[in-house]
Amino acid sequence: MLTLIKNIKELVQVERQPKLRVMGREMAHIETIKDAYLLIEGDKIKAFGPMTEWSGNADCEVDAAGRMVFPSFCDSHTHLVYAGSREIEYCDKIRGLSYEEIAKRGGGILNSAKRVQEASEQELYDDAQMRLEQMIGFGSGAVEIKSGYGMTTEAEMKMLRVIRRLKENSPLTIKSTLLGAHGIPMEYRGRQEAFVDLVVNEMIPQAAAEGLADFVDVFCDQGFFTVEDTDRMLDAGEKYGLRAKIHANELAYSGGIQCAVRHNALSCDHLEYTGDDEIKALLGSETMPTVLPGAAFFLNMVHAPVRKMMDAGLGVAMASDCNPGSSPSANMQLILSMACINYRMLPEEAINAVTLNSAYAMGVSGEMGSIAVGKRANFYITKPIPSYEYMPYAYGENKVDIVFLNGKRI
Ligand code: NIG
Ligand code: FE
Repeated sequence: MLTLIKNIKELVQVERQPKLRVMGREMAHIETIKDAYLLIEGDKIKAFGPMTEWSGNADCEVDAAGRMVFPSFCDSHTHLVYAGSREIEYCDKIRGLSYEEIAKRGGGILNSAKRVQEASEQELYDDAQMRLEQMIGFGSGAVEIKSGYGMTTEAEMKMLRVIRRLKENSPLTIKSTLLGAHGIPMEYRGRQEAFVDLVVNEMIPQAAAEGLADFVDVFCDQGFFTVEDTDRMLDAGEKYGLRAKIHANELAYSGGIQCAVRHNALSCDHLEYTGDDEIKALLGSETMPTVLPGAAFFLNMVHAPVRKMMDAGLGVAMASDCNPGSSPSANMQLILSMACINYRMLPEEAINAVTLNSAYAMGVSGEMGSIAVGKRANFYITKPIPSYEYMPYAYGENKVDIVFLNGKRI
C-alpha cells in the first residue's frame, strides 16, 4: 500500500544521509524541501523530494497544500504513568518551599508513590492511555516512560507492567525504564544502602527476568542517591543488559554527569548544574545530554547552559519530563518554544533537540527522528502555518493537524 502526501509547503528535517545524532555546530542545521512530496509504503518512508520530481501512482493521496510536514517528536524522558496530581505542592512552592524541602517532608515523589501503590493496574493504565492520546495530538511519535513511583518491588513491577501494556496497545513507539531509585522511602531513611540493596538484588533482576525494562535510571543528585549508590545500581543494570539513562545534576554539581559517562549511559538528563568539568566529561562520549525545559520552567530553576554545551561541541536533546511533580505536561510543542525562548536556541537547534537527538536519547534514532528513506513513517501535517520558525514562535497553540504513525493516519 502506497500513500502519497502531496503539495507539502515545506518538508522539514529531511536526511539523505541519516545520522544517529547531531552535535555542536551541526545542531544549527536542518534540511528542508519546499513544495515537496512524501511517499509511504506500509509503515516506512519510501521516498521524498520536490513535487516536480514525483511521478507514479499511489493507492491513497493526501493533499497537504499550504501545510508543512515535520517528523514526529521523540519524547525521551517521561514519568507518564502516575496517579493523581500534586497542585497542593505547586502552591507550597509558590509560597516558597523548595523541591528538596517538599521531598524531605514526605511530599513530592513519595506523595505520588503512595497513590501509585494504592492504584490498580487498570486505573494506572487508563490514566496513562489518556495522556498518550493527548501526546499524539500534540505531535509525539515515540515516548520513553519510567517507573519510579513504586518504591517497593511489587509496585515498581506493577508500573512496568502498565508500560508493557501501553507498548502493546499504543501506536506510539514506547521504551520503558526501571527507575527503582527515584526517592528514598521513609522507612529507609538513615539506611539508604538497604534500599539500594533492594534495587540491586530484587528490582533490577526481576524487571530483567520478566523483560519489563529497556533501560535503568537513578536520581543521582543532592539529597537523593549518591554517586556510590548510583555506581552500584548501574553496575547491576549492566549485568542484566540494561543500559543507563540517568537523572543528574538537577539540584547540584552532584558528580552524576561524570558517573553517567563512566557507565556509558545513553543519556543523562536535567543538567542544570553543568560546568566545565561536566562538559569535558561528556565530550567524546556516547551519552546524550538531555535538558528538560518543562521542569526548569515549572520549578523556576536555573537553566542548563545549553549554548555553552553546544559551543563546546556537544549535542543536546530535549524532552518533556511529563510528571505530576515537576512538569505536568507532555506537550513537546511547548518544549520547542521553551528551547528557543529560555535557552536561546535557534529554531533549527531546537528542532534537532526534540527530534533526532531525543530519538538518540531513547535508542531509536536509527528508525525515527527525521524524514529519511527506510525510517518509520511517523510525522505530522501542520495547520496552515507560514514557516517552520512559526512552530516555536506561536507558543501555546496546537499547530498539529493530521498525525501519521507507522504509516497510518491516526
Ligand atoms: O524528572 N527529578 C526527579 N524526578 C522527576 C520529578 C518527579 C516528581 O517530582 O514527581 C523529574 O523532574
Ligand atoms: Fe524525570
